[in-house]
Amino acid sequence: MFLEIVRFSPRLSQWDECDARYSQWSFQPIVLWAGGCATKAHMYDVAYQKCIHPTCAATVAVADTSFTCPRCGGLLDVAYEWDRVPVPSSLRHFETKWSDRHHPLNFSGVWRFRELFPFAPEEKIVTIGEGQTLCQPADAVARYVGLNPGRLWLQYEGMNPSGSFKDNGMCAAFTHARLIGATRAACASTGNTSASLAIYCAATQRMRGIIFIGSGKISYGKLSQALEHGVRTIQIQGDFDDALRRVREVSRQLGLYLVNSINPFRLEGQKTIMLRVLEALRWELPDWVVVAGGNLGNVSSFAKAFQELYELGLIPHKPRLAVIHSTGADTFYQLYEKRGLRWQQGQYDRGAIDVYYQELDAAGRKPSTLASAIEIQRPVNWPKALRALEWCQGVVRAVPDADILDAKAQIGAGGLGCEPASAASVAGLRQLVREGLISKNERVVCVLTGHVLKDPDETVAYHTTDRAIFDAKLGRHGIRRVAFANHAVVVPNDLAAIIQAIEQDAEDATMPNRTDSGPWPRHP
Ligand SMILES: Cc1ncc(COP(=O)(O)O)c(C=O)c1O
Ligand SMILES: [Zn+2]
Repeated sequence: MFLEIVRFSPRLSQWDECDARYSQWSFQPIVLWAGGCATKAHMYDVAYQKCIHPTCAATVAVADTSFTCPRCGGLLDVAYEWDRVPVPSSLRHFETKWSDRHHPLNFSGVWRFRELFPFAPEEKIVTIGEGQTLCQPADAVARYVGLNPGRLWLQYEGMNPSGSFKDNGMCAAFTHARLIGATRAACASTGNTSASLAIYCAATQRMRGIIFIGSGKISYGKLSQALEHGVRTIQIQGDFDDALRRVREVSRQLGLYLVNSINPFRLEGQKTIMLRVLEALRWELPDWVVVAGGNLGNVSSFAKAFQELYELGLIPHKPRLAVIHSTGADTFYQLYEKRGLRWQQGQYDRGAIDVYYQELDAAGRKPSTLASAIEIQRPVNWPKALRALEWCQGVVRAVPDADILDAKAQIGAGGLGCEPASAASVAGLRQLVREGLISKNERVVCVLTGHVLKDPDETVAYHTTDRAIFDAKLGRHGIRRVAFANHAVVVPNDLAAIIQAIEQDAEDATMPNRTDSGPWPRHP
């Protein structure tokens, strides 16, 4: 049945040597759940890779690392023969993992859902404790976007080991790399992928990491992670799109294992962001999930998660997805909303994107946004994203950077610190509520993809009273004023002046919900 095209020959490697450090994450196969008929040892035989185009549908072995269809050059999914594995009959099954948190695979917020992406035996799984994230109700932010209290939840992926959602996918990519014996991994990055790759390289000590970054395109928070954790850092003259093109060439030539989101195994790990959302909502579906779009891996992965759950009978209907770009890097918005490009069961107009890129090139337009993580003009996963939005009647919007930064300040004031790209989700939601597409009583989850400390410069510039700092960082992107700056107060070194400055704090007198009953913050 398979086109067994294995271009990467697996070989035994350092991964298989056992050392004290790594062995803490290695396990014997175990029976998965009471009454189950399969053991872990057999589960991963059911996985393969499959071209996303229905008319091609070529299949490729799990071990293949080219991550493109050998027949038509299209993107690949990881697919499973679900009828050969015991699938939990209800999502509540995953609650059994909560009582076994000493088992690292049950502790992991990714691998505790491993039955839903069974491509590796347990003893090959890589985890550094990723996915301990929160889905928080956020009434203050709900008010800001125009939703009723109790209707907005923020899925905070900044709590991951490297501070962004990427770790969800990186542990899955590393597991696949380990499975096939890779020893060097590479990525192009706007910062977070490289930080995640770096931390997994350092924590496992099994893989050499090589990262490609564009010149001046990476925030210091993210660059410092890559440097600190010791990956080889190649800065090329160009932007993310140039870096991605190069890393794909170099990976092919040198046999490096590619961990960008074109790697479908990464997207398998990212499915668990949605599983944790459902877990937090007590296995009920939100009406909408809103997420920033860059290379469009998340939206593709989230839709795949929901589609599989739906087809396995584990959820009753489909939530809708909204992808939010910055107006400075809005390719998918232009194609989907302005030019009406649709998946059409795989019969989409494949030339449309080339025409669009030619127009951009002719006009000399480069992507430009303060949300550097999504400063991507040529998103590789766009066909998957088209498919995703067709499946769930999704939408795409583009919001200006000024709105993104205001939304970010509101999210921060509500207690969760995120980076600018993450806040695009909330800014986009606000726009969708204003348009009336999302009604104020619908239940919405915005995914906050990265931590506020990833880019402190932009945050400080937003709140500063120093015009030079403001202009250097924000003014040059066309931002003239911001709505929610929390200015530091400069006072003389004098007790009376200091006390007066504290007493003048108007915010202090207006703290909402000062009650002593129940936990803080309050959960609906
Ligand atoms: C913080 C953050 N948000 C959003 C994105 C975009 O995610 P995707 O490429 O899956 O669309 C990225 C990608 O680098 C990111 O780092
Ligand atoms: Zn194909």
